[in-house]
Amino acid sequence: MSLFSLDHVAIAVPALDAAVPVYRLLTGVEPSTAELVEAQGVELVFFTVDGCRIELLQPTDPESPVARFLERRGAGMHHLAFRVPDLDAAVRHFTEAGLELASPPRPGAHGHRVAFLHPRSTGGVLIELVGA
Ligand code: CO
Repeated sequence: MSLFSLDHVAIAVPALDAAVPVYRLLTGVEPSTAELVEAQGVELVFFTVDGCRIELLQPTDPESPVARFLERRGAGMHHLAFRVPDLDAAVRHFTEAGLELASPPRPGAHGHRVAFLHPRSTGGVLIELVGA
């Protein structure tokens, strides 16, 4: 069991309205339709460039982890997301090997289930595991 492919790079921003024009300028493409992911307290859009996806995340709930991240660290790189063939098996495998789970499997963007590994155990980077 291992990471399968990079799914997206996520950037936390205080407001999509301000960040979307910047990433439209940078990428030259239109973002996906904004999606509300209630389970994570975020609204997000994706920019896709040559198969690489950039996710912009805006908190919708002041208690959400992304809102707390912005308070502590300001806007910036929030997580790397990798696809895994079997989310539950991947979570079991990585936690049994000593990595720390930051949040267990829950609904994510585009109907995928996702889980997060804590940056304490992954060299300082929050890792999102995206199931099939
Ligand atoms: Co993500």
